Amino acid sequence: MVSVENLIESINQRGWAVVTNCMKHTDSLRLKAECEAAYQSGDFQPAGVGHGMDRTIREDIRQDQVMWIDPHGNSFELETYLAKLENLRLTLNQHFFLGLFDFEGHFAIYPKGAFYKAHLDRHAGTIDRIVTVILYLNPDWQPGDGGELKLWTTSGEREGAFQLIEPRMGTMVYFLSGEFWHEVMPAQKTRTSITGWFRQR
Ligand code: OGA
Ligand code: MN
Repeated sequence: MVSVENLIESINQRGWAVVTNCMKHTDSLRLKAECEAAYQSGDFQPAGVGHGMDRTIREDIRQDQVMWIDPHGNSFELETYLAKLENLRLTLNQHFFLGLFDFEGHFAIYPKGAFYKAHLDRHAGTIDRIVTVILYLNPDWQPGDGGELKLWTTSGEREGAFQLIEPRMGTMVYFLSGEFWHEVMPAQKTRTSITGWFRQR
């Protein structure tokens, strides 16, 4: 676990950060169980590509299923996680004067074989998504299970140096949404996460 200072330092210097063991194991397990129950109940839908009128389902680009998170009235564990993100939002604003005003996010499930091709998290013609925050909810993730996040580490580049981040339970990833190209490698077993964005107006 790294301190908030290290996290801020890392975002400041590189524009991205990976932090392992961010959550109590029991809390992550409950979030995962909540996610799976909602999935079984049919509360997820195929994730879209694009924005507004241009939003479409493109299985050649992404194959995850998502459930958007309400800002209020969630389970205790989810409210706890959202409170943690709210603290983080305030801290980021203090350090970077980003004027982040809210968080939008969804649970995501990648069924076996699913992927998400290289992309930026900012829709064409928009600037609202500033910082991407992902929490992984996969206990017992092994090398060979796939589903790594491939994050190119040079701002604006989709080639050259990259990190392969395993979607292990409790790992969190942060990066500047409009700058860092990234891709989800095909998952060899069901892959669960909460992905979201701090936004500007
Ligand atoms: C996304 C995304 C990455 C991940 O949902 O936009 O890139 O590792 N997710 O789940
Ligand atoms: Mn993305």
